[in-house]
Amino acid sequence: MTSTTPKKIALIIASTRPQRAGPTVASFIHNIISTSPSFASNEITTVDVKSFNLSLYDHPSAPALFPLDKPSPLPESHPAIKWSQTIASFDAYILITPEYNGGLPAGFKNALDYLYHEFKGKPVFVISMGVHGGNFANEEATRALGTIMRGRAVETKVLLVIADEDKLNATMGRVGEKSLEVWGEQKADVLKGFEELVGMLNDGGVKVEKEHIAV
Ligand SMILES: Cc1cc2nc3c(=O)[nH]c(=O)nc-3n(C[C@H](O)[C@H](O)[C@H](O)COP(=O)(O)O)c2cc1C
Repeated sequence: MTSTTPKKIALIIASTRPQRAGPTVASFIHNIISTSPSFASNEITTVDVKSFNLSLYDHPSAPALFPLDKPSPLPESHPAIKWSQTIASFDAYILITPEYNGGLPAGFKNALDYLYHEFKGKPVFVISMGVHGGNFANEEATRALGTIMRGRAVETKVLLVIADEDKLNATMGRVGEKSLEVWGEQKADVLKGFEELVGMLNDGGVKVEKEHIAV
């Protein structure tokens, strides 16, 4: 049965360094998905990982062993508590991640390690960027959020390749016009991934297809 209840979708900015392209890329993606007929019937909120000021992993155990409804071994004041509650409060996720040296940025991997149950059964759409498009980071994020943390990755994945002339600027956090122009040609893929995400939400909402025990 199709549901018309607005769903909460997080647009996650994974990069956390001072000069970063992440917010520009997130706003570029936001502009594209705002043209979708499904946009107005859902609630899209940008979640910036950097704003949580997470410490280098100092959880005394593994979050997988502490379900969301059980007390966390972290003090209430630990920034990871707010991070976990924020992520848990969404129904689906669009992740915007860069690739650093063939993988996820360390800051985001650190943030992910504070989570486990928050994504369970929920749709996830991964968009990566990089001088080569960030395929490794895209795969790593899909594995972590999908296979390990039991989210439901949409079939479409989008890789945004930074244009040759923008490479240096992009590594300094500035996305050039040429890259934006080329990425504009991927609008259909971005919309396709977004529609798949919304489709999963409307088709039964949260659904756990497979169990994977991380710890
Ligand atoms: C330390 C570092 C390593 C990088 N390694 C890769 C890489 O392995 N593959 C790739 O496609 N791009 C790579 N890049 C390019 C970034 O993905 C690109 O500059 C991206 O815009 C960075 O996003 P951010 O500014 O939001 O951190 C790297 C950039 C940095 C700073």
